[in-house]
Amino acid sequence: MKLLVTGGAGFIGANFVHYWRDRHPGDTVVVLDALTYAGNRASLAGVDVDFVSGDIRDESLVEGLLRERDIDTLVHFAAESHVDRSIHGPDAFVDTNILGTHSLLKAARTVWLKGSGTPHRFHHVSTDEVYGTLAANDAAFSESTPYAPNSPYSATKAASDHLVRAYHHTYGLQVTTSNCSNNYGPYQFPEKLIPLFLINALHGRALPIYGDGQQIRDWLHVEDHCLGIDLVIAKGRVGETYNVGGGAELANLTVIDTLCAAVDAAFAADPSLAARFPDAAAAKGAPSASLKTTVADRPGHDRRYAIDARKISDELGYAPQRSFAQGFAATLDWYLANEAWWRSVIDGSYRDWVATNYSAR
Ligand code: NAD
Ligand code: TYD
Repeated sequence: MKLLVTGGAGFIGANFVHYWRDRHPGDTVVVLDALTYAGNRASLAGVDVDFVSGDIRDESLVEGLLRERDIDTLVHFAAESHVDRSIHGPDAFVDTNILGTHSLLKAARTVWLKGSGTPHRFHHVSTDEVYGTLAANDAAFSESTPYAPNSPYSATKAASDHLVRAYHHTYGLQVTTSNCSNNYGPYQFPEKLIPLFLINALHGRALPIYGDGQQIRDWLHVEDHCLGIDLVIAKGRVGETYNVGGGAELANLTVIDTLCAAVDAAFAADPSLAARFPDAAAAKGAPSASLKTTVADRPGHDRRYAIDARKISDELGYAPQRSFAQGFAATLDWYLANEAWWRSVIDGSYRDWVATNYSAR
C-alpha cells in the first residue's frame, strides 16, 4: 500500500507511523503535517518516512501528493485536538477540523474518482466525543448513538465525520471512520491529562483537577488504537464507522492517584530520579498526591465517555492488547526514558502556552 498519513507528527499519527512501519515494512508512508504547536518532527526520528511539511487545507498540494506519490490510502489524523484550546479559541478548530477535512475530501474526489476511478481508501480518525456525554448508568456509545457534541472540538469533529459520510453517499468515495476513546502513550503532547500531570509531578508543580475529578473517560493505549485502525483499513466495510475503546472506564481521580502512586514507586525504586528531578515531591520524601489541587471546572465539561466496541470486535476481531495498568506502566517508563523529547516540547511553543494558561488556573 501507499499511505498518506495526515498529522503524522502528532501524538497518535506518529505512533501510527511507527506501528505501520513495524507491521507493514513493504508499504510506502508519506506524512503530511503542518507542524503546529502539537506536531513534532522528533517524534518520527529514525523512522523511514517521506515527510512533507504542509497544510491539509492546501488542496493543490494534497492533489499533487495523491497523484505523484500514487497514494491509495489516506489516513487522516490531522486536527486541532485539545478541548481546552477549543474553548479558548474555536476558530482554528473550524479551520482545520472542518475546512481541512473538506479540502482533503475534495482532493481525494478529484484524484481518485476521476474517469472510471482508482482503488482507494479514505480513513478518517475521529473521537467518541462526537456522541456527547453519558450519565452514570447510560449504555456506552455505540455506532448508532445520536451525535450530540458539546465542545467546539467535538462539534468540529462531528462536522468532519458528517462530511466524510456525505462524500461516500453522494460521490462514492471509499471511506471508513473510527471513533476512539481517550488515548495515552508515548509522544503525547503535555497539555493532555496524563503527560501534563506526569511532567508536573516531576517538577513539583500543582496537579490541576477540574471540578470534582469524578469525570469518567475510557482509556486506551495508543498502540491499541493503531491496531484498531489497521483492522478497519484491512477488513472494515466501506462507508461504515467503527467505535474503538479500551474497556477501561476510569474516573479522573483514579487515573491521577494511579499516576501519583506510580511516580512515588519509581522514585523509591531508582534513587537517580531524585537527582534528575529535585523539585518533585517524591524527591523530598512527600507523596506526589500532595500536589493535587482542585481548580475551576472546564465549561461544559462532559461527565462520562464509554465505548461499546462490540462492532469492531465481532466484525473485525479487535481486542486491546494491554490493560490500563500495563499500558500506563509502559507510558511512565517511556516518559522517564525520553526526557529529551518532552523537554524539547516544553522548551518550545508549549512554554508560552503554560505561561499564559497554566498560571491563570
Ligand atoms: P495532536 O494534536 O497530538 O496532533 C495533531 C497533528 O496534526 C499535529 O502533528 C499537527 O501539527 C497536525 N496538524 C494540525 N493542523 C494541521 C493542518 N491544518 N494541516 C496539517 N497538519 C495539521 O492530536 P492527536 O491526539 O494525535 O489526535 C489525532 C487525531 O485523533 C485527531 O483527529 C483527534 O481528533 C483524534 N482522536 C484523538 C484522541 C486522543 O485521545 N488524543 C482520541 C480519539 C480521536
Ligand atoms: P484531556 O486529556 O484534556 O482529554 P479530553 O478532554 O479530550 O477527555 O482531559 C481528560 C480529563 O481530564 C477530562 O475530564 C478533563 C480532565 N483534566 C483535568 O482535570 N485537569 C487538566 O489539567 C486536564 C488537561 C484535564
